[in-house]
Amino acid sequence: ELVSQIKGLDDMESILKRELGYKKIIVVPGDSDKDPNVKKELGNVAALYLSSVIRHKDIIALTGGSTIKEMVNSFPKMDFRDNLIVPARGSLGRIIDIQSNNVVAALAEKVGANYKLLNVPDNLSNESLEVLLKEKEIREVVDYIRNTQILVLGIGRADKMAARRGLSEEEITKLLEEGAVGEAFGTYFGKSGKSIRRINSVGICLDDFKDVQHMIAVTGGSSKAEAIEAVRLHNRNAVLITDEGAARKIVSIL
Ligand code: G3H
Repeated sequence: ELVSQIKGLDDMESILKRELGYKKIIVVPGDSDKDPNVKKELGNVAALYLSSVIRHKDIIALTGGSTIKEMVNSFPKMDFRDNLIVPARGSLGRIIDIQSNNVVAALAEKVGANYKLLNVPDNLSNESLEVLLKEKEIREVVDYIRNTQILVLGIGRADKMAARRGLSEEEITKLLEEGAVGEAFGTYFGKSGKSIRRINSVGICLDDFKDVQHMIAVTGGSSKAEAIEAVRLHNRNAVLITDEGAARKIVSIL
C-alpha cells in the first residue's frame, strides 16, 4: 500500500515522482479546493521555480487557466527584458482573464519581457488551421512555441476542460465514456496515462515538447487528483507543482 509509506509531504513527493514520472515534485500544504490562499501559494511557488530556472534569452510559453493566472499574479519583481513570452495555445472558452494571451501579456508587462499574442481560436478544423498557418504573423508565433525552452502548463479535469473548450454535451458524454479524466495541452488522458484523444491546438501537441528543457505543470485541488494521476507528460524534465489536497488523494488512488 503506497498510502502506508507516507509520513510527510516529502514521502508523498517521492511516491508521486516515481509513479507519475516527474523529475521533481513540489507539494504545497493545504487544498486549493478548500482555501483560495493555497492556490495563491501554488502560483507563488510556481513563480519562484520559474524564476530560478530561467536564463538569458530563454523563450517561455504559457498555457492559460486560473492556476497559471495565480502564478502571474504572484510573480516577484524581476527583469526579463531579454526574454520572450508566448502563449502556448490559442483562445478557448469565454473567460477573458485566464486566456493564454492574457496571462502572457500580464506576465510580460510585469517583468518587462517581450511578448507575442496568438489571435486564433484553439479548436480549429484541420482545413482552417492549414490556411491560418500560412499567415506569417501566426506561423511566427507557432515557431516560437515549438522552440520554447520553458513550457508552463495547467492540468485540468477532462469534463471541465471539454466544457471550457466548447464541446457539446453529447461530445462531452462520449469523451467521458471513452474514459477521459484529465486534460493537458489539448490531450485527454484516461487513468494512468492512457491517451484518449487529442485536439488540434494550433497544430502543436504535447508530443512536440518531448525535448523542452523545462516543463512545469502547475495544478492543485483534491478534485483534480484523478486528472493529475491520468496525465503523463512524457518529458524527462517535467516538474509538477501541486498541493497536498491533490497529492494525498492521488496517492490513495494509485
Ligand atoms: O488550461 C487550463 C488548465 O488545464 C486548468 O485550468 O487552472 O483554471 O483549473 P485551471
